[in-house]
Amino acid sequence: MSGNPERQADAGPLAASSPHVPRHIAFIMDGNGRWASSRGLTRTEGHRQGLEALRRIIRHCGTRGIEIATIYSFSTENWSRPEPEVKFLMSLLRRFVQRDLSELHRENIRIRIIGERQSLEPGILKLLQDAEDLTRENTGMDLVVAFNYGSRQEITGAVRKLCEKLAAGDLQASEICEDAISAELDTAGLPDPDLIVRTSGELRLSNFLLWQAAYSEFYFTELMWPDFDEAALDKALESFGSRDRRYGGVTAQAL
Ligand code: IPE
Ligand code: IPE
Ligand code: MG
Repeated sequence: MSGNPERQADAGPLAASSPHVPRHIAFIMDGNGRWASSRGLTRTEGHRQGLEALRRIIRHCGTRGIEIATIYSFSTENWSRPEPEVKFLMSLLRRFVQRDLSELHRENIRIRIIGERQSLEPGILKLLQDAEDLTRENTGMDLVVAFNYGSRQEITGAVRKLCEKLAAGDLQASEICEDAISAELDTAGLPDPDLIVRTSGELRLSNFLLWQAAYSEFYFTELMWPDFDEAALDKALESFGSRDRRYGGVTAQAL
């Protein structure tokens, strides 16, 4: 997946397979509304600019040799926003898929959707499924779109599925281990995020990848998402590169 020679050729000092480059990076794209209101614009305009930032960041993740980029685009709690804003966010997703899908496909990007699908409007659901189907065989970067996603709901669903298997006699209680739980999450098969970036100065996860973030590194920036650009991403990657990931052990130098 990281073996795209063209991508690596212009990757600069933060080349793929370097320990400074996270294999899996996840973004909590926050601050669109505040970006807009501080400029006297509507929140809608903030979301529109947020989409532009997303396009730039996806491209830049590719040039930096990142294997998997996960984006938090709509949470299960975001339904509580005013209806016109929710409607606009849905239309933006529709536009993103319709307008950008062919380019993402050309870039060999594989799209995967995580989040609760059953309650989505059929049109949106079909769009998301088509995006996954079209790009399924691609071998470049994985773009994981967290849409209608909530980590507690995801974990609850996993517990339910395990209980159903247990009740059907297909699973023993002794077989319930961390891997068995991970395998029932929407992210099954994906490595945990190495780095989680949140923009807008908020210092919380907001129900994002709670299980998967057990040993993730975090990077918080005051920048609002529409202002998060290539240089800002490089800064986050540099910060990541200087971390000592001990996973409960001791630092390599201390051995
Ligand atoms: C992030 O920006 C986009 C979504 C949550 C969909 P916000 O809309 O949360 O912007 P703020 O946090 O209100 O500024
Ligand atoms: C998190 O941002 C969700 C997304 C970025 C999609 P929110 O703006 O919804 O989070 P809170 O409400 O500040 O925690
Ligand atoms: Mg927000």
